[in-house]
Amino acid sequence: MSEAYFLYHSIGQYPGKARDLAGAMAEFAMVWSAGDDGQWGHVLGLRGRFIDRWRGILNAGPGTVTTFENVTAGFHALLTALPPGHLRGRKVLVGADCFPSNHFLLNGMAEALGFTLKTVPLRQGAAYVEDEDFLDAWTPDVGLALLTWVSSTSSHRIALGPMVARARQMGSLVGVDVTQAAGLIPFDVHAPEVDFAVTTSLKWMCGTPGAGVLYVSPRLIPHCHPQLRGWFSQTNPFNWDITRFDYAPDIRRFDNGTPAVMAALASLPAMDWHAGQDKAALLAHNRALSAQVIDAADALNLPLLSPRDPAKRGGSVMLRLPERLPAGGVVAALRAQGISTDARGQTLRLSPGVMTTAAGVERLIAALTPMVR
Ligand SMILES: Cc1ncc(COP(=O)(O)O)c(C=O)c1O
Repeated sequence: MSEAYFLYHSIGQYPGKARDLAGAMAEFAMVWSAGDDGQWGHVLGLRGRFIDRWRGILNAGPGTVTTFENVTAGFHALLTALPPGHLRGRKVLVGADCFPSNHFLLNGMAEALGFTLKTVPLRQGAAYVEDEDFLDAWTPDVGLALLTWVSSTSSHRIALGPMVARARQMGSLVGVDVTQAAGLIPFDVHAPEVDFAVTTSLKWMCGTPGAGVLYVSPRLIPHCHPQLRGWFSQTNPFNWDITRFDYAPDIRRFDNGTPAVMAALASLPAMDWHAGQDKAALLAHNRALSAQVIDAADALNLPLLSPRDPAKRGGSVMLRLPERLPAGGVVAALRAQGISTDARGQTLRLSPGVMTTAAGVERLIAALTPMVR
C-alpha cells in the first residue's frame, strides 16, 4: 500500500528497504558473532561510511560530522560544549515553530547556562513564524540562534541567507535543524556558512531511529569542550594515560565512550540507496505530488497551512481540518483504506516521497472528499 504512503516527515520508505535493512543486520550478526578479531575494524568502518554519506548530504568536510542518538542529544552536546560563559547573560533565539524537543531542551538549559530563551511567536492564527519576525527579534544580545530550516507542522522553509547574514551582523552563533527536508532539498553547511547543524536519518533519508548527526564548523570546533567526554574524544582513543586526556582536534572530540554503531549500520543501506538516486528527480516527484494535493485541498476548501510557494516549502503539505472533523478520526478512516497520514492537532500532515504515486494521491483525494464535503 506504499503508493498512498504520506509519512516521509516521520519515517521515509524506499524500494528494497526491508531487504537492505535485514541484510545489514544479518551481516552485523555474522561479523559480531565470528570467532575472530574483525569486529571493531568492520563496524567502525561502516560507521565512518555512514558519517561520510551525511557529509555528502551536508557538503561538510572531513572531521566535522559525528553521530548522536538524536537531534536533541546532538544539540545538547553543542550547547554544553561552548566556551564557558559564552551564553551567560545573553539570549538564545528560537522560533515558536521549532521542533518542540529543542524548545524543551533550551528551556531546561537556560538557568544552568545563564541565558534567557527568546521565542519568536506565531502571529495570530498563523501556522509558522514569519522570517521577518525572526529577523526583527534578532538583537545584538543574541548569543546563539537555532534555526529550523523546515518546520515539522507547517513545512514552512526559512530563507537561510538573510538569517545567517543577520547572525554575522549581530555576532551570534547560528545553527540549523535540517531534519525536515535534508535529503530531499539541497542543503550546504557552507552556503550560507552555518556554525553547526543537527539532523537525523529516519525521515526523508529513509534510515532508522538512533541515527542522529551533528555537524560543527571547523572554525568552532577548537573552541568547543564537550562536557560528555571519554576515550573516544581523544586524538588517540588508546591513550591510556589518565593524566593526559586530550581532545581530538576535530569533531571526534564530541564522541565519548564506545560509539553506538547500530543505528549507523542500519541506516547505511538507505544512505547508499539515496546516494545513487537522481536528487532532482526525487524532488520533482515530491513537487508534482504536492501540487496535486494542494489543488485538491483548494477544491475541497481545506485551508493550506504550508506556504503555497514551493521555494518556501519543505517536502510536506499540511492542511487544516475543520473542527467538526476530529483529525484522529480522519487519520483512522484513511488508515482503514490503506492511506498512511498523521496529524498534529487539527493539522493533517501529508508528505509524498519516492514510494508515493499519483494514483496514491488520487486515492487520498477520493477518500477525503466525502469526509470533507
Ligand atoms: C524539525 C525536526 N527536528 C528534530 C526532529 C527529531 O528530533 P529528535 O531526533 O531529537 O527526536 C524532528 C522529528 O520530527 C523534526 O521534525
